[in-house]
Amino acid sequence: MPILSGKVAIVTGAGSGMGREETLLLAREGAKLVATDINEAAVKAVVEEVKAAGGEAAAFAHNVVSEEDWSRVVALAVETYGKIDVLVNNAGISLAVGLLDTTMEQWNKVLAINLTSNFLGMKYVIPHMQKNKSGSIINISSIAGLTGSNGAGAYTASKGGNRMLSKAAAVDFGKDNIRVNSVHPGFIETPMSSDLIKNEQMLQWFLSQTALPRVGRASEVAQAVLFLASDASSYITGVELPVDGGVTAK
Ligand SMILES: NC(=O)c1ccc[n+]([C@@H]2O[C@H](COP(=O)([O-])OP(=O)(O)OC[C@H]3O[C@@H](n4cnc5c(N)ncnc54)[C@H](O)[C@@H]3O)[C@@H](O)[C@H]2O)c1
Repeated sequence: MPILSGKVAIVTGAGSGMGREETLLLAREGAKLVATDINEAAVKAVVEEVKAAGGEAAAFAHNVVSEEDWSRVVALAVETYGKIDVLVNNAGISLAVGLLDTTMEQWNKVLAINLTSNFLGMKYVIPHMQKNKSGSIINISSIAGLTGSNGAGAYTASKGGNRMLSKAAAVDFGKDNIRVNSVHPGFIETPMSSDLIKNEQMLQWFLSQTALPRVGRASEVAQAVLFLASDASSYITGVELPVDGGVTAK
């Protein structure tokens, strides 16, 4: 039997990159997917892919910084599929701007999309998980949430913040059998990073940082998310799981 049979999962930022791969994989493994993205056309296309492969999914337009949107999406998820077992807070943006050059507007935007969104998602989803005494939440952080990185202060702060927010929630809601973990991708080829990876000098720098001599695939991050979403990780909570080809092993 597929390992997520009978489970209902919300994935944010599902229209592109890792969110798309997570949506396709979780659906292939039997979950019913609530796929959301601010880019409605993109998330609808991913849901069509899920359906074409025989899976079950619904697409919703969703800005993860909007409390109103979270309230609506979570209500629609429960109305459509009856419950929520898994939340993947994946939507995010990058900002490669040094701290002294970062404007308040940039700072607030990155913190809102990468960190406040995780708070809002948990605030609206956890009460439904508490009713079932079961749930798994996966917050997509970054290697930038584990170590300092050059010229990306706001991004690093947002990803370090969602790592610690995950641990705080793991401690608070373990009593309800709700697990909360963070996943820390390294250099993964997605639309977010493809320009950097196409730049030969950047690529060589990435490869000088990894232990495995290549960049990662979005599908490899999705496999880590699948493990944490499934009952195969039933005694794992509050951990940070790097999927980084060994960058943080150095
Ligand atoms: N690509 C990498 O190398 C890398 C490395 C570490 C961490 N990450 C993290 O992985 C996650 C996924 O990144 P990706 O590389 O797949 O990026 P991506 O740009 O391919 O996809 C991000 C998705 O999030 C959506 N999104 C952006 N703002 C949103 C908002 N306000 N509300 C709802 N949806 C929104 C976009 O529309 C897009 O579909 C992000 O949190 C990112 O920070 C990426």
